[in-house]
Amino acid sequence: MCGIVGYIGKNNAVPVLIEGLKKLEYRGYDSAGVSVFDGKELLITKCKGRLANLEEKVKNEPISGTLGIGHTRWATHGEPSDLNSHPHTNKDMTISVVHNGIIENYIKIKEWLISLGYEFETETDTEVVPHLIDYYYDGDLVSAVMKTLDKIEGSYALGVICSKEPDKMVAVRKDSPLIVGLGKGENFIASDIPAILSYTRDVYLLDNSEIAILTKEDVKIVTREGLSVNKEIFHVTWDAQSAEKGGFEHFMIKEIHEQPKAIKDTMTSRIMADCDEIKLDDIKLTSEQLKNIDRIYIVACGTAYHAGMVGKYVIEKLAKIPVEVDIASEFRYRDPIINEKTLMIVVSQSGETADTLAALKQAKSKGARVIAVTNVVGSSVAREADDVLYTWAGPEIAVASTKAYVTQLIAMYIIALYLARLNGNISVEEYRQIRDEMLTLPEKSQEVLDQKEELQKFAASNYMHKDIYYIGRGLDFAVALEGSLKLKEISYIHSDAYAAGELKHGSIALIEKGVPVIALASQSELYDKMVSNIKEIVSRGAKVIGFAFEGNSEIEKTVNQAVYIPKTLDILAPVLLVIPLQLLAYYTAVEKGCDVDKPRNLAKSVTVE
Ligand code: F6R
Repeated sequence: MCGIVGYIGKNNAVPVLIEGLKKLEYRGYDSAGVSVFDGKELLITKCKGRLANLEEKVKNEPISGTLGIGHTRWATHGEPSDLNSHPHTNKDMTISVVHNGIIENYIKIKEWLISLGYEFETETDTEVVPHLIDYYYDGDLVSAVMKTLDKIEGSYALGVICSKEPDKMVAVRKDSPLIVGLGKGENFIASDIPAILSYTRDVYLLDNSEIAILTKEDVKIVTREGLSVNKEIFHVTWDAQSAEKGGFEHFMIKEIHEQPKAIKDTMTSRIMADCDEIKLDDIKLTSEQLKNIDRIYIVACGTAYHAGMVGKYVIEKLAKIPVEVDIASEFRYRDPIINEKTLMIVVSQSGETADTLAALKQAKSKGARVIAVTNVVGSSVAREADDVLYTWAGPEIAVASTKAYVTQLIAMYIIALYLARLNGNISVEEYRQIRDEMLTLPEKSQEVLDQKEELQKFAASNYMHKDIYYIGRGLDFAVALEGSLKLKEISYIHSDAYAAGELKHGSIALIEKGVPVIALASQSELYDKMVSNIKEIVSRGAKVIGFAFEGNSEIEKTVNQAVYIPKTLDILAPVLLVIPLQLLAYYTAVEKGCDVDKPRNLAKSVTVE
């Protein structure tokens, strides 16, 4: 969780590190810190709270140097505090370390180091690393880091500098992301590309256990055995602007508005008018191999799991293959039945979610074939899977996922159609009907965005409620879950989503006079049943805002307020229906004065279990 950044070159590292950390703050914002070598010694400035606090601190007490590392923290071991902030150091402050991940065996190492006379200042797992490097250091930083790696277990991306060898920086990763940026007379490390994009577009995507040794002129990558690795340079094509706010008040609202383009980009070159086949160079599954598959698992967390729920519905409907959808943290510990007849689809915006990655590895080790749906090129999930379907949403910065979710939905349709065509379960005519309708989604999603004022008004008159519920049936239930998650994570209003038919088995007891309920009624086969469910809660005092397709205006007779989305096929409704729910959550959080892009207790990339 946490973001790390590092610089070695000819300029002052501090502004480079701070700018880089700004782009990584989505990874955690409990504290921030930097360490630089000022020509004589290592200096560390760090403090609890947002990066702005650190900026203020270095403004008041400037430090500078041409070698430095920085960190933004999402606390795991040890409360957010000045002391527990990174970088961490050894006793005589000759080594500075930043870390993203968890050192699982830190207690054992700490006890051992204490028995050798080492003193610890913090409650963190990370502090064992500088002490271990110190213990092994005999004039060669790289060798001391390597010996340290032999000792530690867990996940890590580490950046290390040492005042005794100020001409280099050492970085390494295992199960936490890390890239190396290649400049001219300067080089960088970072947890994610946007952190260094203003300086270079050429990067190395480090693989697990690769060690990068950076000087200002050169970058060497070696294995744990010290063998040199010939890395391919990855050239970043998207521009830094797409990771900036571009005139919007928050990243979240900007990203909501980017959805028409994200939907279009994810379909481009895969679904084309006048082409009767899905073009999917990314997936190499043949119809022969598909015949052998008897079960599909879709595994993901949070919002991505909600996209998986839609995936289950559409794959079963179109390709007629049984699908189970699972929360990754549950899946990996429930001893699921997996064999070579299993296809697993993992869905992850970041491609770094620890539970999702673990489920993927588990499935692969038991012979399953794995398709990854991810938004981040070269992410761990992308690299571990057999096939990758990238969602071309562009960088998503707001912690609450929006454009990544709609592109995950598009990926689910693409996979469902691909499998259905491969096993012959849908005809060309059926394919054409869905294809043509999918191609209208960018335009229709723009129409939904144009109705935002209505939702802003609803938010203004309902933001003070303690509870807001969401109900729906079929695909609408999957969208209701996502709408409810969006609201609770950014506005902190208690919210739950219920399958509308299930209400009368318990949850309807929660309905009392004036409680707002968001009722989704897009599915035509279930429309009448849904209207009956709405009546049941209206008669118990609920204040209902109903969502339906344009043309279904009789819903107005039942609800307090109706919102319409453009007509599309029932199976595609989630793409359009989720947008007003995202807007509703956004405007509610703004009304409440919440920190929309960085909600409390959360981080964008969950690289710990
Ligand atoms: C909610 C949200 C999270 C993520 C979840 C999985 O808005 O963004 O629920 O969906 O943490 O993250 P990824 O997709 O990166 O695996």
